[in-house]
Amino acid sequence: MRKNIVAANWKMNLDRVEGITLVEDILGKISLDSKTEVVLAPSFIHLYKLGKMCDDRRNIFIASQDCSASNKGAFTGEVSAEMIASCAAKYVILGHSERRTNFSETNELLKLKVGQALANNLEVVFCCGESLEQRHSGAHFEWLNSQISDSLFHLLAEDFSKIVIAYEPIWAIGTGVTASSDQAQEAHNFIRDIVRKRYGGNVANDTSILYGGSCNPVNSAELFSQPDIDGGLIGGASLNADDFVAITDSF
Ligand code: PGA
Repeated sequence: MRKNIVAANWKMNLDRVEGITLVEDILGKISLDSKTEVVLAPSFIHLYKLGKMCDDRRNIFIASQDCSASNKGAFTGEVSAEMIASCAAKYVILGHSERRTNFSETNELLKLKVGQALANNLEVVFCCGESLEQRHSGAHFEWLNSQISDSLFHLLAEDFSKIVIAYEPIWAIGTGVTASSDQAQEAHNFIRDIVRKRYGGNVANDTSILYGGSCNPVNSAELFSQPDIDGGLIGGASLNADDFVAITDSF
């Protein structure tokens, strides 16, 4: 059965002390017996320390926000999946729209990054999502299909079980405009359906699909009550412990 997951995407926020303070705050407030898996994705500088802070919590894990498409060598500034795994991270987020847009990440590049992550035993939170123009023109399903199939559908079923998908419509990210629960459910159902066509019903039913885009404590319960929404990837609201913990409690 698939997991419910609430993941915090800190983006390029919080220095060393601020990051530690936020995690202390979250650890003090979060329910210990929650069945929801909680994932914290800080910037690289925090991975090791936050991993240590959370390593006695069975339902809290660490993720990086990206990894290199190469394994090692002369790539100044890059951080490899092997390095991330050595900090005891469980996940890597790949394909966030901010990376696709600001750093020209293509489906082909992301396919390489997915390969690096899986080769180093990291699970992947793979982001996809359409622009407002694509939604208005009705091209969004075709776009989601190509993002997912071009970067992921070469995987064997056993490797696809290491993939979590995050549907993040670009028009909802950081805008305060959330997809309605019907819009989000429709997209999640579409994503589960293409996974079913490629890998079969068992894999599709076991794949966690998260919603991201202005998710907050006010709208999370309704979004997470939809049959194909298995949690959230939370940006802005994850920088406040009370808001983030409230979202983790909203199943
Ligand atoms: P937001 O960001 O919650 O601030 O909209 C979500 C994300 O970009 O992952």
